[in-house]
Parts: sequence; structure tokens; C-alpha cells
Amino acid sequence: MSDRDNRQVNISIDLAAIRHNLKRARDNAPGKKIFSVVKADAYGHGLTRILPALTESDAFAVANVAEGVGIRAAGEQKPVLVLQGYHSVKQLNDCRAGGLWPVIHHAEQLEMLTAKQTSKASLVCWVKVDSGMGRLGFKPEQIKQVCAVLIDKGVRVAGLLTHFASADRRDDISTDRQLRVFRKVDVPQDCAEIDRSAANSAALLNRPDSHFDWVRPGLMLYGADPLEYQSRASQSVDFGLQPAMRVTAPVIAIRELNRGDRVGYGGTYECTGPTKIAIVGAGYGDGYPRTVAAGTCVMLGNRRCTIVGRVSMDSMSIDISALSVAPPIDYPVTLWGHASLLVDEIADRVGTIPYELLCAIRGKRSWHDPTVEVNVRKIIDD
Ligand SMILES: Cc1ncc(COP(=O)(O)O)c(C=O)c1O
Repeated sequence: MSDRDNRQVNISIDLAAIRHNLKRARDNAPGKKIFSVVKADAYGHGLTRILPALTESDAFAVANVAEGVGIRAAGEQKPVLVLQGYHSVKQLNDCRAGGLWPVIHHAEQLEMLTAKQTSKASLVCWVKVDSGMGRLGFKPEQIKQVCAVLIDKGVRVAGLLTHFASADRRDDISTDRQLRVFRKVDVPQDCAEIDRSAANSAALLNRPDSHFDWVRPGLMLYGADPLEYQSRASQSVDFGLQPAMRVTAPVIAIRELNRGDRVGYGGTYECTGPTKIAIVGAGYGDGYPRTVAAGTCVMLGNRRCTIVGRVSMDSMSIDISALSVAPPIDYPVTLWGHASLLVDEIADRVGTIPYELLCAIRGKRSWHDPTVEVNVRKIIDD
């Protein structure tokens, strides 16, 4: 029995939402090819289980070779870009054997190509340019030489990519700066026609000038808004994304407290009058953040209820005084993924990003395709 099976948090993944969000990516980047980014187990959504929702992708992008091997084992035939490339000859051989496209971003990877035990199977790669993020990649002036070495070693260079540091912030001039650098990168004559890729979700939605040949959406496929909170607040456009992950946990007790009673560790919350509390069976042990700010909500049916006191390891307390009828024990409370309570809101409340919450949450996962299984959503809503 896996750790996930012991948990009472339920994570329900809506494949139709993912399919819809991929279509939004297509609509916003017409004529461009799409790498669907499915690293970190598809941002916590279950890589192999969501592949049927991503059949319209042109290719996939994962973080590491093991993830690439996993996606091939799941039967996926389309190109798979390995964003961190290989770090050993064994991984290089796995790339060759699985037809994975490693990203080449440092000199040691070039040296591994001539190692003795290297398989001779053909290799297609992408080369990463550090256009200003200061993370992975060669300096722009090194790219021509790197491509020449790769070609000399019999590797096909399929493309050049770069990654933005602040595309989630509208009007951040660093994106313009990075674009200028990326556009100017010089390549050898034999590579003149190679593809280019720069845009993550935020750039895909906001910066058509960054689309080049391939876009690389991740977060937007899962229905979270890729823009940073301030930028989101100032924008008038609704990207029409649908949340793919809904997280619920059961009510495990109802308590009647009085004025002056305190709730939870540290007694940080004091009741100002008669207060009805529902204890919900989820906490930081399930990956729900302990650090949510006061006033953070959950959804009980279609009603917002506030979390009171500290989030514990496996429970949290919510104020249900405003409800005319208390929920029955075991009633599912939505922690995020309701149309009126998106993961983006919880992330803002913790001072983090939706990526972190989606990847960290643990529970029993199930996958639904409402376009096939009519009413699955309705049953959960009721
Ligand atoms: C190199 C690279 N490209 C694309 C993405 C997708 O970014 P996002 O999830 O913001 O769309 C990531 C994710 O971090 C990445 O590291």
C-alpha cells in the first residue's frame, strides 16, 4: 500500500480541463509548435495518467532523463525534450536509446559525447542559451562554437532555447533584454535554419513576440494563472483557463466553542462569540501549507469558510458559524480547485506560487474525463 493510499486528502484531476487549457495555448500561439511541459510528474497531476489529455501536443518537455525514460515507458512516441540534459554517459546512452532530445547547456556534456562507452545511436539535441537568467545555458557568444562541436561529433542540433527570468511580471524590462540577446545569437552556417524556443506559459499568453517556432507551456496546462499576483490584478484579460486539480478533505468533527475559547496550536485564534467549528482532515503533512495567512478560505459546497488557528499536521479548523446547517461528518471540503477558490488564491495567501502547491500536495489521486464520464464533477459538487 502506497503512502498516497493512506491519505484522506483526495486529489481529483480533470482531463477535460487539461485538454481545454492546451487548446488555449494553441489559440494563443497560432501556428507554433508546442512542447507540453510535464516535469515534476506533470506539476503533481500524474504524468502518465494525463497523457491522453495532451495528445494534441507536438512534443513534451521533462526535467531529467529518468522522467524522459518514464514517458517513453508509458508508450509516448512524440519527441521529448530533456530540459536539464544528461549528467552522465549512462544518461546520454538513455537519451540515444529512447530518442530523447537532451538540452546541452554545459561543456562537460560535450566531453561525454566522446567517452568510450558511448552508444553510437544517433542523437538530436537542443542547445541552451543563457540570455540573462543566470541559470542553465551557455553564454550567447559561445553558442556558435558549441553548435560546431556538436555537429562535428555527429549530433543533430534541432534548436536553440532560452528561458525567461521574469515573464510572469508584465512590463518587466528584463524579458525585452533577454529577447534581444536571444535574437542576436549567432549560429554556424549549417544551423542557420534551426528552430528556436523561449516562451513559458506567461510569455505564451503575454508576449507574442517571444513565440519563435516552439512554445513551452507548463503551468497554464494545469489551469493556474502564470502571471505573478500584481500583474494578474492589473490585467483585464481572462485567459479562460480551467483548473485541472481539485483537492478535497473530509470533515472529521464539528465543535461548538464559546467566546474566549482558543483554537489550535499556540491558541492563536480566540473566539469572539459562540463559534461553530468544523475540523477538516488535512494539514501540512499532506502538503497543505502551514503558513497560510489569516483569512484563508476553503469551500464547503459553494460557501467560503475561513480557516481559523494554525494548520496542524493532519487537520485544520474552519469557522462554519455562518452556515444554517452543519455539514455531515466525512463531507468533502474543497481546499482548492473550486471555480471560486483557485490554487492561485491560496498561493497568494502563503506568499508562494501555484507551482509549489500543486507539486507539494499529497493524497489519493483520481483522474476523470467529464466529457466521457458524464456527471463525475456533479457528484463531487453535490
Ligand atoms: C526551461 C523551462 N521551460 C518551460 C517551463 C514551463 O514554465 P511554465 O510552467 O511557467 O509555463 C519551465 C518551467 O519551469 C522551464 O524550466
